[in-house]
Amino acid sequence: MENQPVSSSQRRFFLSVVLAAIGAALAFLAGWPLLRFLTPLQQDGDDGRVAIDRKRLEVGGVLFFSYRGGTAVVLQMAPGEFTAFSAICTHLGCVVQWKSQPQEFVCPCHGGRFSPAGAVLGGPPPKPLVPLPVTLSGEQLLIG
Ligand code: FES
Repeated sequence: MENQPVSSSQRRFFLSVVLAAIGAALAFLAGWPLLRFLTPLQQDGDDGRVAIDRKRLEVGGVLFFSYRGGTAVVLQMAPGEFTAFSAICTHLGCVVQWKSQPQEFVCPCHGGRFSPAGAVLGGPPPKPLVPLPVTLSGEQLLIG
């Protein structure tokens, strides 16, 4: 087998294919954030509400779940009393965590603290957690 010399037109064709592939890859990478911005956020139900089986939430318990591209939380602090909030801290948008002792939400970013009712207890958050409507439908909690 013998090496044949590559003509300049073959080289040009090869380089144009490589450059077109690189250009397509760069266009995709540049356009991806725009595409993500323009597509609707994932919703669990037709109306955007999230359905959660109430048996998954014991009295005194909290349950974090995905909600409209973010995180939300539902609590049952007394039997049959359900409250839900966006779990996004109102300071700079970190996801809060639940501390069972002393029953409060704590933001891991700057130490913001919220009560089980979503009120600011301390730290830099300027506003309470954003409440979400909760509807009981049979054994399902419909949130949002
Ligand atoms: S982002 Fe929560 S306290 Fe700053």
